[in-house]
Amino acid sequence: MTRWLVTGAGGMVGTDLRDELLARDVEFHCLNHSELDITDSRAVAEAVQSAAPDVIVNCAAYTRVDDAESHEHLANSINGSAVEFLADAANEADALLIHISTDFVFDGTKTAPYEVNDRTNPLSAYGRSKLLGEIAATHARRHLIVRTAWLFGVHGPNFVEAIRNQIHKGTNPLRVVNDQRGKPTYTPHLARAIIRLAGHEAARGVVHYADEPECTWYDFARAIVEESGAATEVTPVSTAEFPRPAKRPAYSVLSTERYERITGVRPDSWRDGLHEYFQRRG
Ligand SMILES: NC(=O)c1ccc[n+]([C@@H]2O[C@H](COP(=O)([O-])OP(=O)(O)OC[C@H]3O[C@@H](n4cnc5c(N)ncnc54)[C@H](OP(=O)(O)O)[C@@H]3O)[C@@H](O)[C@H]2O)c1
Repeated sequence: MTRWLVTGAGGMVGTDLRDELLARDVEFHCLNHSELDITDSRAVAEAVQSAAPDVIVNCAAYTRVDDAESHEHLANSINGSAVEFLADAANEADALLIHISTDFVFDGTKTAPYEVNDRTNPLSAYGRSKLLGEIAATHARRHLIVRTAWLFGVHGPNFVEAIRNQIHKGTNPLRVVNDQRGKPTYTPHLARAIIRLAGHEAARGVVHYADEPECTWYDFARAIVEESGAATEVTPVSTAEFPRPAKRPAYSVLSTERYERITGVRPDSWRDGLHEYFQRRG
């Protein structure tokens, strides 16, 4: 039986991963931030030694993309250096380290989906910190870096909830950017993809997982309005009209070709995920 250790287990992805593991015949230890601070190297070593896992999944991260611009040191320490501690501990335990990364390691200048070996060039402090984490994760003898994008799930703040809040407040029309393309991804789909990948020896190095199909934030917002049954209008606007501290890639569509080749499974549809999200959140 495989034994799992999940760090950052109280977050949006961590909670869904715990639920997915619960539904399977596996042993697992899920540690949230208060139970394990991954920047504490000794605590990481002790936690891994005591859990003796076969697989470690790091769901812990500094995820406030805009705040990272003014807290780069903190972002680097959680998203970068701490991953080194996990890699060392994984090596001690002879465990597979699965680390979650992001489409924000790319600069968005491509016009075709990003493959796993495409050149990284993050535009933001958050993206740079996540790239440091990818490099640190490679220090684990057995490692899998799963890059994903545009996450939404019922256990954390996300774009779907932000749009729903605006609808409830009566904002009309909603102004949403239409010049950033990506792939929204429902976190239970990601959790299942991670568990699926862990069962394949070929799943080492970098793999991309994101739901299908690609769209813009404007398209996504329209789907959310439609799912909610509201009559709210959505107006497309440009990124330039919504200046934010951190620069985002204009195009961050992840190719899931390697995921499909390894697992033989097509990615899930975010539209199905959105439907389930509304059913669960009511
Ligand atoms: N959200 C997205 O759209 C997106 C897109 C692509 C990739 N990702 C990646 O997906 C992963 C999971 O993200 P998420 O959306 O689930 O984020 P999240 O909901 O913010 O979860 C991150 C968790 O990490 C915890 N954490 C922060 N610092 C920690 C530390 N020093 N030690 C231990 N735990 C710590 C947080 O706890 P506190 O809340 O107590 O700080 C939180 O529970 C991250 O690697 C993220 O970079 C996210």
